[in-house]
Amino acid sequence: MEPLAAGQLDPAALAGRRVAVFGFGAQGRAHALNLRDSGVDVVVALRDASPRHADCAAEGMATLAPAAAARACDLAVMLVPDEAQPRLYQESLAPALRPGSGLLFAHGYNIHYRRLEPRADLDVVMVAPLGIGEQVRRQYQQGRGVPALLAVHQDASGAAAAVAGAYAAANGHARAAVFRSSFAAETETDLFAEQAVLCGGLGQLILAAFETLVEAGYPEEVAYFCCLHEVKLIADLVQGRGLAGMRRSISSTAAYGDATRGPRVVGTASREAMRELLAEIQDGRFAAELDAEMAQGAPTLAAWRRAAETHPIEAVGSRLRALMPWLEQG
Ligand SMILES: NC(=O)c1ccc[n+]([C@@H]2O[C@H](COP(=O)([O-])OP(=O)(O)OC[C@H]3O[C@@H](n4cnc5c(N)ncnc54)[C@H](OP(=O)(O)O)[C@@H]3O)[C@@H](O)[C@H]2O)c1
Repeated sequence: MEPLAAGQLDPAALAGRRVAVFGFGAQGRAHALNLRDSGVDVVVALRDASPRHADCAAEGMATLAPAAAARACDLAVMLVPDEAQPRLYQESLAPALRPGSGLLFAHGYNIHYRRLEPRADLDVVMVAPLGIGEQVRRQYQQGRGVPALLAVHQDASGAAAAVAGAYAAANGHARAAVFRSSFAAETETDLFAEQAVLCGGLGQLILAAFETLVEAGYPEEVAYFCCLHEVKLIADLVQGRGLAGMRRSISSTAAYGDATRGPRVVGTASREAMRELLAEIQDGRFAAELDAEMAQGAPTLAAWRRAAETHPIEAVGSRLRALMPWLEQG
């Protein structure tokens, strides 16, 4: 798969188009400021009661109420949480967007699982950053960018791909790489990576290893440093040099342990679990379960957060991080 070429990421396709960014949170803030700094005509759509009006004013960002922003824009960018998007679309966007205007997502979830079915006369596109909002902004300010996936779901105007490409350029993604994808592939791979590696897998690996050492009588501080703190050092090596490059940078002792013990930690059972997770994502079982959880006010999530926050690794972590105030507190 080759990244899109410069001609497919031409900022000119946004010239004369007004962009409304709905939400000023993790992604919304980054996109709105990046677009503005790239010379795009951008306004932020915020609810009257939003606590973010002062932040917008401090950044010199113009704001409008959601319905007014939808009426005034040529491209509406959905940067409120995924669970809030269907209602915001129905109430503020569907009645107001002009025919031929665009609706842009940063994640394919609601379109892929049909939680939101846009009007047929709209362009529906996705520019999904492969990074968190803070990185999208910080990298842009440093003259860099995070990579992104671009997809077209509906092309009512004939210009959907060009507008999405221009957006990817204005948000800094073209400085790294933009790959053509689909709403389905982005959603399924994103959910899978969150569950198997980035959040679920990594978090459980750290906790299980920490608990194993503490149960065996080792000090919590030592267990925290070697099982959690040092993850960043390895993650930086893996991101910058690849797995093989990381392995060239570690000792022979570490490499031998990696080669002979790693497959025992993530063995047949874990690979089978990964295939199950992927199947649940692909056939919609995970999304249906998430809908049911959210409809009940997220009780499982709330209980899990409470338990996670009182785990001993948090107390030792707070004490140790306080010794290194230069660490990113996020
Ligand atoms: N978080 C990330 O780094 C990340 C990474 C890749 C993709 N994405 C995708 O980016 C999109 C935005 O996610 P996010 O994490 O940036 O969202 P977020 O930070 O949680 O969004 C916060 C903003 O959404 C507004 N909002 C919340 N609920 C709302 C509602 N019911 N009606 C109207 N506005 C509402 C908030 O309004 P107030 O100002 O009124 O509080 C706030 O301005 C999602 O599709 C997500 O999957 C996120």
